[in-house]
Amino acid sequence: MKPRAVVFDAYGTLFDVHSAVLRDGHGITGDLRALSELWRQRQLEYTWLRSLMERYEDFRVLTEAALRSAVGQLRLQVSEAQLGDLMRAYLFPSAFSDVKPGLESLKGIPLAILSNGTPEMLESAVRHNALESSFAEIISVDNVQIYKPSPRVYALGVETFRLRAAEMLFVSSNWWDVAGASSFGYMVCRCNRSDADIEFLTAAPDLTVARIDQITDLF
Ligand code: LAC
Repeated sequence: MKPRAVVFDAYGTLFDVHSAVLRDGHGITGDLRALSELWRQRQLEYTWLRSLMERYEDFRVLTEAALRSAVGQLRLQVSEAQLGDLMRAYLFPSAFSDVKPGLESLKGIPLAILSNGTPEMLESAVRHNALESSFAEIISVDNVQIYKPSPRVYALGVETFRLRAAEMLFVSSNWWDVAGASSFGYMVCRCNRSDADIEFLTAAPDLTVARIDQITDLF
């Protein structure tokens, strides 16, 4: 069934979270890939913990706390100025190369982003990659003050488009986001760029692609 709207996850799906560290090392010495991986891992853990504790703080705050935790755990020498540079770089992540052509190939179907990011972070990432005209809506969890995979987050897509979840396609590269969206009732497509094997908490995704520009061929 052709979806009546497509809802995309942002970080890791449209935008390469590792580009903030790896595009420019910011003069930091050490294993930058390890720093970036641990930063992302901590960031997600903080979103899950805060959600369970019902103590929301926005994604920018958690992203900075996660960065400090990762730097400390890896015992890297990183100055306050370098921390500031990394946090600024997070506002300007690179989109994966398949994203722009992929979004263009879906013209005619309303598209949205539904993400943990704050509205400011998401607007900045979209603008930096010149994707403003692609999206009808940019939806932040900030509206409900809880993170994915809370069903309250996935409900925002339903409320925004006034469609049933099963009529919409949710696209994510994050396996736990695939599980959350699927559990909520979306038709789900996993974008598996790295061909990674993963376990699924719930059902496997309905569809799998290696790149966003392959979604159009599914319908
Ligand atoms: C997001 C996180 C999951 O964009 O990457 O919501």
